[in-house]
This record gives sequence, structure tokens and C-alpha cells, in this order.
Amino acid sequence: MAELGKNIAYAQALLDKDELLGVPTETVYGLAGNALKTNVLAKIFEVKQRPAFDPLIVHISSFSEVEKYAQNISNEAYRLMQAFWPGPLTLVLEKKEIIPDLATSGHPTVALRVPQHPMLLALLQTLNYPLAAPSANPFGFTSPTSAAHVNAQLGNKIQYILDGGACKVGLESTIISIASGEPEVLRLGGLVLEEIEAVLGYKLERIKTSSSNPSAPGMLLSHYNPGKNIVVGDIAALVNQHKNKRLGVLSFSEVYSGEDIELNIVLSPKGDVSEAAQHLFSALRQFSDSNVDLILTEFVPPKGLGKAINDRLTRAARY
Ligand code: TXA
Ligand code: MG
Repeated sequence: MAELGKNIAYAQALLDKDELLGVPTETVYGLAGNALKTNVLAKIFEVKQRPAFDPLIVHISSFSEVEKYAQNISNEAYRLMQAFWPGPLTLVLEKKEIIPDLATSGHPTVALRVPQHPMLLALLQTLNYPLAAPSANPFGFTSPTSAAHVNAQLGNKIQYILDGGACKVGLESTIISIASGEPEVLRLGGLVLEEIEAVLGYKLERIKTSSSNPSAPGMLLSHYNPGKNIVVGDIAALVNQHKNKRLGVLSFSEVYSGEDIELNIVLSPKGDVSEAAQHLFSALRQFSDSNVDLILTEFVPPKGLGKAINDRLTRAARY
């Protein structure tokens, strides 16, 4: 198992030796390494068992660093950075030569973000290179929102995890491609689209996600595998349909009990979608670790982060 701690100097020393480590962000934990070194990037793909066609997000310490790694940046892109960095927004921009092709899976673009977590920002400020960091889970599985989650899935492959507590947002960053032409939404996530649209002054295009869409290489239709079947629908009706199974119920705000219900997790008793987002991935993990045969769940109200939650539930249910 990996060691958990808050030692930024130690984290820096490991990274300087081309090692990977677990790092906290406000969205989910990342598996981080030097984004400018091909041997380190190769290790990230290997440890995560991630296919080489799925490019990585490069994390930088501040807005002022973006021009080191990206070029031909539009005024709109600058406006979004100014409004939302540090924060849960990733921008896909035209890359500069210094970013290795392995980081971008051969694409001429690079995904950049400034994360909003004091510990990770402090670490990034001490380094003289940016950090490539995909979510710290094996490919296809649920993203980690605590250091313990990272340890459970990758602890035998890394030495150290910076422990920054539970992630405040709980969903991965929103990804906007703004490299050329009209900005497009590549992934719904921790920053609500309406806030981005308010800064841009117009509605964003959402690209159609498919397993083969080359502009959104990582947006696979099935993802967030909790290792159990999940059905999304009307919970009461689903409970009736699935008698004599050990049922798990993942509900938004209401409590469910009944003979067949082994475990009910309520995402937000007060019906708050942001709170539900914070709890979603750890709830999926609790079901994975339980003895339920089947997880029944429901969509949350599609306001605020609700749409991003429903996107994750839909993809988790495709397993
Ligand atoms: O919140 C987050 O974004 C977290 C934390 C650790 O920062 N990271 C994260 O990384 O979710 P990951 O690797 O699990 O997801 C990154 C997504 C993938 O779907 C990938 O395909 C997409 O970003 N991506 C990266 N570079 C891209 C590019 N040049 N063009 C299009 N999509 C890109
Ligand atoms: Mg991921």
C-alpha cells in the first residue's frame, strides 16, 4: 500500500525522480507525473491501464503559465481562464511543441487546467514542470474522491498519496474544446455550463459522444464501472420488478426501505445537487464493496450539476 501524507517537499522529490503519486484536486484525485517527460507519461498509461488513444489533462499552477504550453489562444479562451481558473474547467487548446505527443495521444491540442486545491497548487508552484494527471483509478472504473479510494485501487503501484481530504466538487472537470472554431463541450463536469455560457454570452454546442468520436477520445459510453449492474429509473417500480434479489438503492433525497433492500444510500437528504455530486462516487464504491446483487437508482433533477451527475449514472449503467 502507498503511504498517505501531506509532505509537499517529499512529493516534489518523488516527482523529480520521475515517480508518480496520488494528488488531491477539488474535483477528483489524480495520478500525477511530470507532463514533459515521455518516460513518465508512459508510466501513467501503464499504471492506469489506459489505452494510448485517450489523452491526459495537463495541470499548471496559474493562468500565467498557459502560454508556455499552448498557442493561438483566443480572447474567449482567456475570458474563460480568467473567470474560472483555478477551478473545475479544462480547456482544450492548440499545443506547443514542448508538450510530448504521448500526453495528447498524437492530437495537435492539449487539455490544460489550473486545479483549485491549496495542496496541489503549492506543489505545482514548487515544480518547474506541469503535472499530467488523469483521475487516479484504473481505466473504466469510478474516479476516486479521497486518498483512501486511491490507495484501494492503485496503492500497490505508487509509493505516496498526498492526502488533501475529501474532494469538494466530486465530479471531474468540465472540458471545453476551444482550440479552433466554435467552442464545444467535450465533457459535462464540475463547472455548470450555464456559468460558462454567461461569460461567453451564447449557448454552447454539446458534441455527440461516442466510442469512436476522435474529438472526444475519452468519452466512452460505458465508464465508472462499479462492478455491479446498475439500473436507472423509477426506484419504487424497479424495487417491485426485482424481487428476491439483494438490492442496493442509490436515491437522490428520499429514504427507501423494504425486505429486499440491503443498502440505501441517499445522495442528499436536503435535495441539493452539489451535495449529491460530492457523494456520488464514494456511494458507488460503497455499493461495490457491499453484497448487493443489483443497484437501483434514479436521475437527479437536471439543474446545476444535476446534468453531469445524470451523465455519470447513464455511463455507469452501461456496464
Ligand atoms: O477533474 C479532472 O479533470 C480530473 C482531475 C484529476 O484533474 N482529471 C480527469 O482526467 O478527469 P481523465 O484523464 O480521467 O479525463 C481526461 C479527459 C479524457 O476524457 C480525455 O479524453 C480528455 O480529457 N482529453 C484530454 N486531452 C484531450 C484533447 N487534447 N482533446 C480532447 N479530449 C482530451
Ligand atoms: Mg477518468
